[in-house]
Amino acid sequence: MNGLFIRKARIQDVKQIHALLMSCARKEFLLPRSYNQLYSHLRDFFVLAEHDAPGVRGCCALSICWEDIAEIRSLAVDEDIQKQGWGGKLVEACLSDAVTLGIFRVFTLTYRPHFFERLGFAPVEKEQLPQKVWADCIHCPKFPECDENALIMEM
Ligand SMILES: CC(C)(COP(=O)(O)OP(=O)(O)OC[C@H]1O[C@@H](n2cnc3c(N)ncnc32)[C@H](O)[C@@H]1OP(=O)(O)O)[C@@H](O)C(=O)NCCC(=O)NCCS
Repeated sequence: MNGLFIRKARIQDVKQIHALLMSCARKEFLLPRSYNQLYSHLRDFFVLAEHDAPGVRGCCALSICWEDIAEIRSLAVDEDIQKQGWGGKLVEACLSDAVTLGIFRVFTLTYRPHFFERLGFAPVEKEQLPQKVWADCIHCPKFPECDENALIMEM
């Protein structure tokens, strides 16, 4: 396998990001994202790419919610390269992007709370997150019975 590295997403990555997220969504690990959402929010995304090879092996997005808070979402890594630290590095790329943007609070809604706790996130009551956070939730098939865990990182 060629070397892997993290970079900002490009328009040519969208179909593979979509396929990766759909395969995780089918297993109910995360919510699917439509092509429309991916094209309009492409600048939120980092991808895990291979040197000298096309293709996306992982992705993660930082979505700005409000004046002082952003969300980590759409985190996925190809199954055959999991547990090598790439998921953590994708999250770190998003956290670093948040700091560059002047945002020091980043939360996530996840079924993998321990993964995020290991990275320094702490559990938070969903009610403590700003109301704007829930704008997308009405599109979730599980709404209003959300069973995801909310975690936040204060930097
Ligand atoms: C969640 C997900 C992105 C993690 O990706 P990953 O590349 O495996 O992430 P990491 O390698 O950084 O960490 C995964 C685990 O491997 C461990 N690990 C990391 N490097 C390791 C190594 N070299 N050797 C052994 N274990 C290692 C980590 O400690 C971590 O353990 P934890 O989950 O108990 O905290 C991946 O499992 C995935 O795509 N899942 C499906 C989609 C999903 O659930 N997304 C999250 C929704 S918010």
